[in-house]
Amino acid sequence: MKQGGSDAAKQAAGESAAEAVEDGMIVGLGTGSTAAHAIRAIGQAVDAGLDVVGVPTSFQSRQLARDCGIPLADLEDVSVDLAIDGADEVAGGNLIKGGGAAHAREKIVDASADRFLVVADPTKETDVLSHPVPVEVLPMARSTVAASVESLGGDPALRRAERKDGPVVTDNGNLVLDCNFGPIDDPAALASDLAALPGVVEHGLFVDMADEIHVGTPDGVTVRPLLE
Ligand code: A5P
Repeated sequence: MKQGGSDAAKQAAGESAAEAVEDGMIVGLGTGSTAAHAIRAIGQAVDAGLDVVGVPTSFQSRQLARDCGIPLADLEDVSVDLAIDGADEVAGGNLIKGGGAAHAREKIVDASADRFLVVADPTKETDVLSHPVPVEVLPMARSTVAASVESLGGDPALRRAERKDGPVVTDNGNLVLDCNFGPIDDPAALASDLAALPGVVEHGLFVDMADEIHVGTPDGVTVRPLLE
């Protein structure tokens, strides 16, 4: 998994976004090393008396939230006030996510939130998205989706597991194709093309979904709106 910038920068971003969490909120808990800092900060606030309920976006964020003492709920029982999540790449109001193969659940939770805050270090920011787009596919659709991605101008690669032979299997039991399209001039068009392919569960293009970004550095955090 891509780790990006320094841990101090990620911590600054995560802790900054966690300050937006208010008493009584239902909070979407993102996945990855930057969102983990936000979860830890929320856990400390819970220890200090903050009353919140978390909605995790992955096995990883669920376990971390449990370890931090954050009460949890399922999405079917609550509605999310605020989601905090990381990104692999950010350009304008658009993101690429899924470096940890959690983008399907992340998109469901983040899209449902009243407000969605992105947490990132400066290495994630770019002018034009060009990171390979993770595409979660039903296992039986791996080859047909790969062929369609090639027709769309992409180069799909099945994500291989580390410390296990064979592919990454997502929390949903599916596979991931990392699809390199080079610079993506029209993220919205590519997002709808990918979403329309039979067998695609979810792709990692998050188009105009995030409200605000917290970019951390070891020296401070820049906060700016992403939606006009
Ligand atoms: C998880 O699948 C991803 O969407 C992560 O949110 C993304 O990869 C960012 O992770 P880091 O904060 O670890 O860079």
